[in-house]
Amino acid sequence: MQDFRCTTDHYATLYARWLARPGTLLDLAGYEPGQRVLDLCGGTGAVSQECLRRGANPSTIMLVDLNPRCSEA
Ligand SMILES: C[S@@+](CC[C@H](N)C(=O)[O-])C[C@H]1O[C@@H](n2cnc3c(N)ncnc32)[C@H](O)[C@@H]1O
Repeated sequence: MQDFRCTTDHYATLYARWLARPGTLLDLAGYEPGQRVLDLCGGTGAVSQECLRRGANPSTIMLVDLNPRCSEA
């Protein structure tokens, strides 16, 4: 069995890689502007922002995060 641990250092590296290409998840999901998006645990709003960059109407995007400092997409 493979041992997978995500230390703080690894997390920072992985998260930076994630933020560099926030559209990956949208591509995997086959997202097209006009579809409704529920950006659960949306954090920085990177995914929601990518939807807007692709032409989404803001009314189609709902970002939910428990952190009050998270982005209002
Ligand atoms: C990996 S970070 C966010 C990643 C985000 N998708 C992005 O692109 O920046 C995980 C987020 O989950 C949020 N979170 C954790 N538990 C949560 C919960 N129970 N309800 C809502 N948000 C939660 C945290 O506040 C944090 O912003």
